[in-house]
Amino acid sequence: EQIYVGVDLGGTAIKVGICDAEGRLLQTFEGPTEVPKGPDIVMDNIEKYIRQIVEESPYDWSQVAGVGAGVAGFTNVKEGVIVLAPNVGFKDVPIRSILEERLGKPVKIDNDANVAALGEAWSGAGKGIDHCVCYTLGTGVGGGIIIHGKIVQGFAGLAGELGHIAVIPDLEAIQCGCGKMGCLETVSSATGIIRMAKDAVERGDRTSLSLVEDITAKDVFDAAKAGDEAASRIVSRAAYYLGKSMAAVAVTLNPERFIIGGGVSKAGEFLFDQIRETFMKLTPDPVTRGVSIVPAELGNDAGMIGAAGLFLRS
Ligand code: BGC
Ligand code: NA
Ligand code: ZN
Repeated sequence: EQIYVGVDLGGTAIKVGICDAEGRLLQTFEGPTEVPKGPDIVMDNIEKYIRQIVEESPYDWSQVAGVGAGVAGFTNVKEGVIVLAPNVGFKDVPIRSILEERLGKPVKIDNDANVAALGEAWSGAGKGIDHCVCYTLGTGVGGGIIIHGKIVQGFAGLAGELGHIAVIPDLEAIQCGCGKMGCLETVSSATGIIRMAKDAVERGDRTSLSLVEDITAKDVFDAAKAGDEAASRIVSRAAYYLGKSMAAVAVTLNPERFIIGGGVSKAGEFLFDQIRETFMKLTPDPVTRGVSIVPAELGNDAGMIGAAGLFLRS
């Protein structure tokens, strides 16, 4: 029996899963990325975790037919190169050839959000939907575009970087990790939400968040749900710009479904209702018809399943 390894390479954690030929996730492992230690150690960790999970599984190394990886950054899929991944500390890293050499196995790579979108399209919230667009809301904001059942890659394999749509008005824009001003990611990622919360506290806004030691995005949502005004404004802002970016995506691609995953999406209907409201307000009616905005279904597993799927679906 052949197995496939799916890797989800993020800024905080590296998740590794073993899938069978039907794409069923059999076993998972998660370890720290250790970005501050530099790209060589991160690469060592990827290899170490992959070998470890296979060793601890009922399968042996010879059964590994391929390793797929989704990477949190601008990824040139055709050349197998991570062009820029600020959250992982990678710049121009030819990850595919490095991993193939280290592992002695065929390797396929893609962007983390593209891979999560594939996972969702395959066995999650996008099942049976040919045109869907996924957002992942975490440390960054990722995007994956599926049209006619296929991931849209673009000229240099960089399509679908929805977190870097410049939606914030110039006067309110701050610089993004990508180097540009006003990206969606600066307000709608967990990082952006936390930053806005800290700003509010520092400004002296009256908010229950000033009592919180190490503010997380969840703290902000909890405070907003409990009626805290400053927290509510932050959530509304994150939701508004997401909805606004979706309006742009809708008139460009006319997807049937938007799927939103990642840690921040756990805020649930409270967040989704506000996103839908903005989307409906800003999008021409014909392009809203039959369109749904729904939470992702695979949670933390989408990345690993989709990454293994890079082999299984081609
Ligand atoms: C990166 C994307 C990535 C996303 C989520 C963004 O900052 O540019 O490539 O998909 O974060 O990890
Ligand atoms: Na993407
Ligand atoms: Zn950006």
